[in-house]
Amino acid sequence: MVQALIDNSSTWASSIATVRQWIHEAQHVAVLTGAGVSAESGVPTFRDDTRGYWAKFKPEEMASEAGYRKDPPHVWRWYEHRRAQIARVQPNAGHLALAQWAHQHPDRMTLITQNVDGLHQQAGSRDVLSLHGELRKNRWLNRRCAECDLDNPTPGEPPYCPACGNLLRPAVVWFGESLPGATWAKAEQAAEECQLMLVVGTSGAVYPAAGLAKIAHRTDSRVVIINPHTSELDSVADHRITMPSAQVLPLLFSSLEL
Ligand code: APR
Repeated sequence: MVQALIDNSSTWASSIATVRQWIHEAQHVAVLTGAGVSAESGVPTFRDDTRGYWAKFKPEEMASEAGYRKDPPHVWRWYEHRRAQIARVQPNAGHLALAQWAHQHPDRMTLITQNVDGLHQQAGSRDVLSLHGELRKNRWLNRRCAECDLDNPTPGEPPYCPACGNLLRPAVVWFGESLPGATWAKAEQAAEECQLMLVVGTSGAVYPAAGLAKIAHRTDSRVVIINPHTSELDSVADHRITMPSAQVLPLLFSSLEL
């Protein structure tokens, strides 16, 4: 048992050293994160066994426009529950490590996230490419009328426009909806032009986001997956670190000159 622990720790140590060297060598590092990077802040993931959101709720009901139109109060309350949940949590050491390194090394990192929890932004990351939108923001469900005022809707579940009855909805990307065009274009460019992509805390189950790792691989970037479990992107990984991201990211980005 002890030997196994020693072997494991030396394997991890050499993994950390290897990837630190790759970060040092990379002119530009793209980072693609998923729900796993917020797991150690206490935010549920989607597909992790019984604790994930999709083990308790149906994505087509809770994360699609059709599901919202079918039962707006039910779905609105779920997003309000998630908003209350993330209001109670803090960014973890992984979020902070990414933000601090990017701040110390301007223009050497592009942070792309599938997460809507805003924890990267709260940790100090700038210009985060939020592929799936932001949970803390709302937008109108239908085309807005002249009276539709995002800052002053009539309270309700969901809030609405008193003039046209338009409903507010969370400003997140639901299944079947397009990602924000300009955000996607920047993410795709970063995936094509980086020398290293870190894929952190994502199952790689959802496209087009997961495809960014394949673009990086195809354009000769090194791809490193940080995930305690296997993912659907493992086949494009040059290296995998099977540890929790809040432990790994500070080790990869700690202050030694990189
Ligand atoms: N550190 C790193 N990875 C972790 C950790 C951790 N501490 N804990 C869990 N993980 C990994 C899991 O092993 C899993 O592979 O995080 C991944 C989370 O996968 P999902 O729950 O599928 O989340 P994600 O990949 O972000 O989902 C993508 O699907 O439902 C949509 O819009 C939603 O943005 C989301 C998208």
